[in-house]
Amino acid sequence: MQKIEVVPSLLSADFANLTREIRKVERAGCRKIHLDVMDGHFVPNISIGPAVIKAIRKHTHLYFQTHLMVEHPERYINDFKEAGSDCIIIHEEACRDFRRTVGKIKKLGLEAGIALRPKTSVDTIKDIIQEMDMVLIMTVEPGFGGQAFIKGSENKIRRTKSFLEEKKVKIPIGVDGGISFQSAPLVVKAGATYLIAGNAVFTGDVVKNIKKLYQNASGD
Ligand code: DX5
Ligand code: ZN
Repeated sequence: MQKIEVVPSLLSADFANLTREIRKVERAGCRKIHLDVMDGHFVPNISIGPAVIKAIRKHTHLYFQTHLMVEHPERYINDFKEAGSDCIIIHEEACRDFRRTVGKIKKLGLEAGIALRPKTSVDTIKDIIQEMDMVLIMTVEPGFGGQAFIKGSENKIRRTKSFLEEKKVKIPIGVDGGISFQSAPLVVKAGATYLIAGNAVFTGDVVKNIKKLYQNASGD
């Protein structure tokens, strides 16, 4: 079985104290952080861009998983590489040419992930899965932190897991949106290994929250 990892989403952190928030995540033993980029077009909300990522890159060695919720992400791949991303996750619907965009990410030496919105079929990945480094199942409609986990998402995670097994592709399945102390064990049971969590991590005591997410995820 692949190792479970809690990947805090910085979207719910205190934006006035990002370095301090990152220290807490490091102290809790996390190795990755999830960075949500929103453009007000692909999703209604606007968040951070490469300048902020570049600024925090100087203060941490954490692995940067950058989730691009932007129209035509191919325009910005270089910028996010320059800013210090280790992995870029894109949505197929947002790209002019999805395959080329994945190629661009890989050519720069970065890992590539595909994010599936709740209504986007697992079939979207069928012709490109060999080139991907991770699949991200959105368990809320992308755009905002703090939303409720969409019930029944476990089925999609299960379908993705069997699909990957069928294709003999060993890559992690991430889940993003509404991951809480309650939903964590459900998604892990269904086959998720990366638990992206914003609100559940940054509301209250960050170190304690991450510890509890790990405990609940492993069924302790
Ligand atoms: C939602 C973002 C998520 C978000 C998750 O569009 O992609 O990464 O930060 O936040 P929570 O865990 O609060 O649902
Ligand atoms: Zn995200």
